[in-house]
Amino acid sequence: AAYAFTTALGLYNFYLNGAKVGDDEMTPGWTSYRKHLLYQTYDVTHSLKPGVNAAGAMLGAGWYKGVMGLTKARCNYGDRTAFAMQMVLYYEDGTAETVTTGPDWIGADSPIVFSEIYDGETYDASLEIPGWASEEHPGGDWRPVETVPWDISVLRAQSGSRVRMVDRMPARRIFTTPKGETVIDFGQNMTGRIHVSAYGKPGDVIELRCFEVLDARGNVYLANLRAAKTTMKYVFAKEETVSWHPRFTYMGFRYAVIRSFPGTPKTENFTAYTLHSAMEPAGSITCSNPLLNQLHHNYLWGLKGNFLDVPTDCPQRDERLGWTGDAQIFCRTACYLMNAYPFYSKWLVDVAADQTPEGGVPHVVPNIEKGRTDGNWLLRQGPDSAAAWADVAVILPWTLYLMYGDKAVLRRQYGSMKAWIDFMKKHSKDYIWNYKLQFGDWVALDAKEGSYFGATPNDLTCTAYFAYSTGLFAKMAEVIGKQEDAQEYRALYKHIVKKYQDTFFDRDGNLTAQTQTAHIVSLYFGLTPEPYRNRTVEGLKRLLAKENGHLVTGFVGTPYFCHALSRNGCVKEAYDLLLKEDFPSWLYQVKKGATTIWEHWDGLKPDGSMWSPDMNSFNHYAYGAIGEWMYRVMAGLETDEQAPGFRHAVLYPRIGGGLSFVDACHRSVYGDFGVRWEIAGDEVVLTVRIPANTSACVRLDGAETVLENDGLAFRTRNGLCEAEAGSGTYRIRY
Ligand code: BGC
Repeated sequence: AAYAFTTALGLYNFYLNGAKVGDDEMTPGWTSYRKHLLYQTYDVTHSLKPGVNAAGAMLGAGWYKGVMGLTKARCNYGDRTAFAMQMVLYYEDGTAETVTTGPDWIGADSPIVFSEIYDGETYDASLEIPGWASEEHPGGDWRPVETVPWDISVLRAQSGSRVRMVDRMPARRIFTTPKGETVIDFGQNMTGRIHVSAYGKPGDVIELRCFEVLDARGNVYLANLRAAKTTMKYVFAKEETVSWHPRFTYMGFRYAVIRSFPGTPKTENFTAYTLHSAMEPAGSITCSNPLLNQLHHNYLWGLKGNFLDVPTDCPQRDERLGWTGDAQIFCRTACYLMNAYPFYSKWLVDVAADQTPEGGVPHVVPNIEKGRTDGNWLLRQGPDSAAAWADVAVILPWTLYLMYGDKAVLRRQYGSMKAWIDFMKKHSKDYIWNYKLQFGDWVALDAKEGSYFGATPNDLTCTAYFAYSTGLFAKMAEVIGKQEDAQEYRALYKHIVKKYQDTFFDRDGNLTAQTQTAHIVSLYFGLTPEPYRNRTVEGLKRLLAKENGHLVTGFVGTPYFCHALSRNGCVKEAYDLLLKEDFPSWLYQVKKGATTIWEHWDGLKPDGSMWSPDMNSFNHYAYGAIGEWMYRVMAGLETDEQAPGFRHAVLYPRIGGGLSFVDACHRSVYGDFGVRWEIAGDEVVLTVRIPANTSACVRLDGAETVLENDGLAFRTRNGLCEAEAGSGTYRIRY
């Protein structure tokens, strides 16, 4: 038996006897390398042969050394790529042997003459060295290697969610644009690479430039990629049919313009492969409204497009960073779609590792912007600690606890969470917290013309999150038995809430900020004084009506909008909002042909023009956070805080939206939960599936008479018709 443990500074492909080992891509992934570097483990027993064996690795610059981040800096972690391997061989006679990389290895230039995450890759086949990783003495210009010193105490085994080429997406069509360019359409906006099979002669070149959308006239639109060159290029060395894709880069695209190709390109020459952290699918929803089904598809593909080892904001332009706010907003939805536990737990290590000594949380993790205050206006006041962004340090562990029931993550992240709360406390004045540059209700439509900052004041959004995170932290302290902390932070929480109420509500119970988002967070975070609740709900409805039933919210308000309504007796209004089809709305994008979620409500405007190219991603999962509402409320698949991880579930689908049926499931750590509701006249037929070793409270929305109870004892308590159910499948008619 033989096992190889491999890692790199930069990106690597590991070879044994001429073949790539394993099907992982973009290894060793992206972490805060100097504090946390992952190695991969491979069973290589069957890659070895009797006699001499050859090992090799190809290296690329990747996140480690290539251009990355808002300031376009190079060599962010170091200026030399390196590879390390330790192979342990166990012989039949009981002995073992270890083979490692070291100064006796040799290196040569590879045919990959250019490779960058943003810009793409160039492969020059004339530089191939035949047998480079299979022969004992291959030809070519080999030179001695140098060892690169590194603190190996930061090495950790990678536990899961490795990046793979997951979905195979054949080209759908090749067409000529009005400007005369030849374009391949894969029919789906995605993140990955194009695999090309083509016949060519020496000197022939394949060159493709990937991009997301066509402009209003149907021409290639590149402006929103900003400086990213997104180009893949292959240079032929001999007459042959090649089968090739780049290795150390990826692109966000639906289309590719063909800049050069030997002969006439045909669809069969091109197959795209998505590239994302491999996770087990965990949910599905189908319903009678095809637009909602497409919306579900779009946020699922938003996840696929932005879970590439770290949760990113977008996959196409010269950014692709681990923006903490985007991750925070989307994490609950993600957990309904995939088993995201290993992926997020790995990233949380870097969240903690990259916190400032004071406990501040960076805007992006891994914090590639560390120490930068120039080169980009978003960093001018420092690269950390914005409300809703930094709060990922607390909200994500809480979400993982709710969705997977694992207390270990709370213990692991405890210090990080506490440091973040203490940071806010330290920088608050009399419980009002606000600090340096805040993103506020980012990209909300109530922003001033051309601005990214929504109209809700920072004092309010910051203090709302200060309260929310502190409240969650106190609960988590309790869960893991830290009673003293729980008490202390509960007291802090009460002070913040009181201050919030005294500051942001006037004497008549109106919010001082008349924005949708101010009302939404006050309601969803439980910050509204009870006597003012109705007034706040009415206020939100009024603000909705003022916009003709449309949302004008950004990153802070949008994820909770439907919850704020449905939790406060306004299920109908929540559905109405979800089902809006004209601008701005979720379904507006769907009707415009979106196959992923857009960064801006007006990414593509009704008149065909676009939001400014300096920030206009068509694959930004943030607003896909509506997925959480569709699972938790429309389908009614909710975990119980008292028995998290769906050990006890609350199955309470809210009927509405003119839907005739909703069919949903969620694969919890205990097994599959299912909810299907169907309307037949004035009756609802509800089928629920509850896996073994779990139980659920089944609630019937709007039940007047239970016609069939399938053995469950329904009772009306506090106005809710409900019954406790053990595992099994039940069909209820009411
Ligand atoms: C990113 C966002 C991010 C924001 C923060 C943008 O450039 O794409 O999604 O959260 O900056 O302000």
